[in-house]
Amino acid sequence: MKEVSAGMTPQTETSPVLLTNRKSWKALEEHYQGIRGVHLRQLFADDPQRGERMTVEAANLFLDYSKNRITDETVKLLIELAEESGVRSRIDAMFRGDKINDTEKRAVLHVALRAPQGASILVDGENVVPQVHAVLEKMTGFCGRVRRGEWKGHTGKPIRNVINIGIGGSDLGPVMAYEALKHYSERSMNFRFVSNVDATDLSEAICDLEPSETLFIISSKTFTTLETMANAHSARSWLLKGLGGDEKSVARHFVAVSTNAAEVARFGIDTENMFGFWDWVGGRYSMDSAIGLSTMLAIGPDHFQSMLHGFHQMDEHFRTTPFDRNMPVLMGLLAVWYTDFFGAETAAVLPYEQYLKRFPAYLQQLTMESNGKHVTLDGKEVTYPTGPIYWGEPGTNGQHSFYQLIHQGTRLIPCDFIAFDEPLNPLGQHHEILLANVFAQAEALAIGKTAERVKAEGSPDWLVPHRVFEGNRPSNTLLAQKLTPETLGKLVALYEHSVFTQGAVWQINSFDQWGVELGKVLAKNIVPELASEAEAELNHDSSTNNLIRRYRKRKETAKLS
Ligand code: F6P
Repeated sequence: MKEVSAGMTPQTETSPVLLTNRKSWKALEEHYQGIRGVHLRQLFADDPQRGERMTVEAANLFLDYSKNRITDETVKLLIELAEESGVRSRIDAMFRGDKINDTEKRAVLHVALRAPQGASILVDGENVVPQVHAVLEKMTGFCGRVRRGEWKGHTGKPIRNVINIGIGGSDLGPVMAYEALKHYSERSMNFRFVSNVDATDLSEAICDLEPSETLFIISSKTFTTLETMANAHSARSWLLKGLGGDEKSVARHFVAVSTNAAEVARFGIDTENMFGFWDWVGGRYSMDSAIGLSTMLAIGPDHFQSMLHGFHQMDEHFRTTPFDRNMPVLMGLLAVWYTDFFGAETAAVLPYEQYLKRFPAYLQQLTMESNGKHVTLDGKEVTYPTGPIYWGEPGTNGQHSFYQLIHQGTRLIPCDFIAFDEPLNPLGQHHEILLANVFAQAEALAIGKTAERVKAEGSPDWLVPHRVFEGNRPSNTLLAQKLTPETLGKLVALYEHSVFTQGAVWQINSFDQWGVELGKVLAKNIVPELASEAEAELNHDSSTNNLIRRYRKRKETAKLS
């Protein structure tokens, strides 16, 4: 066995075996050669029970994975791969609070955020669950006061507008959850989300609001993120200008969500009005921490608790269920199957629920910041593709734009269809039309339409190739009863754990994000080069130097004209 380097978290006894040298990997390679030419049409024809058999239920979510290019043997081998890769011990290590985020020496405990009162999860010997519940209680008290109009702004008016300022995990979760759960939200209040340092974002968010009725939530794990701090300072100036410049007003109109009390205080926010979380919560795994303050303000503490309960049910399913019935494990393994054996570069997430319109964007950070990695845990270059590109749009809209490429293009794009039995806004036959489209798209992708059928339907010969649907394009269909806060929690946890499974097989660290650092540092250096009055000495490559000079020249010309 290869020696584990100092500070490296050993996964399992078997983990140092290179992924592609594992027995199950080799078996999958051979198996792939047999299955790559087999059509889903054939698989369904050979096994009339396939559509019923290849399904799994978890916490009242239903997954039909029968329209994947797999057989029982594929599933068996993928599960062997998970076992050989130490996925089980990795799951146990996460739930135990081990520091599995090795490069940052941190535990990975978003699961503690939804652990019930009385549970015990230790980090450095301390049970973190009571701290989680203390923050939840503080959030509950605060949200109650704001929602009841008891929290007054500086001039004595109740809060009607809430603006969350944050970016990445401090924005995508809150905005996705707000949109997803709008049905349950307090409609007498406005909720807006500002993330981009492009001033248009903030300007449009505040242009029709009264400062005296507006509350800003500055959400930033580090409280040093350039975009968030720039927006927070500008929001502060807008507020002070609107309220006569009285610095005391900041305390009634700004609260913070952060792990960095010192920076929060330096900004001028009373740390009494700060809602904390911990370094063991990754930004993209934080929507159910205090980062969800805007969510709780919008939907109320009871619905927020239901959402946490949903997360927890999926956590328990993931933690305790054998892999062959474990929904996140199966979804994660299918992602590995397509990424590494079929060479699929992307995966589409297609919610047939308008309220989930930001869900694909949320998943992009969750999946790609987690598994967009090129080295293994022990720092070796991977020799296989990792994290696929996730993207998507709600159906049926996507059908009228990019589905053409999924159906007839040259790439294999595995799809996740997400739909609900019950609509939140029943109206005539709309829901049946919506659901019919989900089922029809998955069927068309899998089964396709042969040249014989196209001909039999009367197409002239020259048109036949254009009208043929090759089919054999894989998808999952994920169904839930209704989009509720609880269901949303289950869905998010399902993808979190699918991402975890993928990362564990690939032997990468799904919990750091060093790849975002370099651009941030370079931007900090370039700001003064763009802004300074005096000509700056530029030491970049000639392209970057030229772009900076061009901007400076344009700025000068604009000033003169
Ligand atoms: O850009 C990367 C990142 O660090 C994300 O991981 C994070 O969610 C986001 O920036 C925002 O960070 P913070 O919450 O510290 O402002």
